[in-house]
Amino acid sequence: MALLGQSFLDVESLSVQTIESLFQKTTKLKKQAPKSLGTKVLGLLFFEPSTRTRASFEMAAFRLGVKPLFFDPSQSSMVKGETIEDTALTLEALGASALVMRHSSPGICRKISELVRIPVINAGDGQRGHPTQALLDAYTILAERGQIKGERVVLVGDVKYSRVARSNISLLLKLGAEVAICAPSSLRTNDFEAGEVKFINNVDEALSWSTVCMMLRMQIERQKGFEVPSLKEYSKRFGVTVKRLEKFKSDGILLHPGPFNREVELSVDVLKDSRNRILKQVENGVYVRAALLSEILGVEV
Ligand code: CP
Repeated sequence: MALLGQSFLDVESLSVQTIESLFQKTTKLKKQAPKSLGTKVLGLLFFEPSTRTRASFEMAAFRLGVKPLFFDPSQSSMVKGETIEDTALTLEALGASALVMRHSSPGICRKISELVRIPVINAGDGQRGHPTQALLDAYTILAERGQIKGERVVLVGDVKYSRVARSNISLLLKLGAEVAICAPSSLRTNDFEAGEVKFINNVDEALSWSTVCMMLRMQIERQKGFEVPSLKEYSKRFGVTVKRLEKFKSDGILLHPGPFNREVELSVDVLKDSRNRILKQVENGVYVRAALLSEILGVEV
């Protein structure tokens, strides 16, 4: 595969063949015991909060016998004014084999990848992209539905501020899925060409059209103001409820990248629905990231 020693910054630069081999390796890794500790070190630089992605990369590193090195910006020399560039160069000089980065600034991972000689992996850059989330979501669709091509995936909610949505739409279109957006007009995106993505205004209609429903978190921390009248109003119009799921295919699947806002994007009883695969996404994330790390770091599995 073409990933050895390379940075991983977006889904757009992945070929379908590379994605397919990654998914084959993911399935292989799911069946394997963790390897014993080797000499590679993975620097984890999270400048924004994370539960899933950070822990998932740590678990993925553990499975490959790679040592995760967690960097806490709030306890670092960045507090004394050291720049992100000098921080990355310092971690490289300390011996990190690759850096995983999450930051609020779009494009920062690419910028750092052009500065250091080790690979940089994008774990979320502002609203721009979250490519490993898109990979694990696509793998989950493949594992649970048996295919991606021809699946009808609807993204419900705050698409405008969602890096998950941007990476997912690019990847799913590349892999042959039909993609729709169901969002308030204030929370849609213009990033995709007319005709590439379908717009559905009504959640009931979106649920009856789709085989995969991907709910998206309301990105309150990124929204600029009054994009929706209130969360209660949003939930009434766009929240997924058990009642609304009567319209959804009996073998469809429900996804959410997490974290979710209970009673906003979904009502809590939806979590008990047999079509819910939210924790499967979390589980698959470890193996997809392990497959990616194995390729980038050249760790045999
Ligand atoms: N889905 C996701 O990126 O979750 P975290 O913010 O918890 O990493």
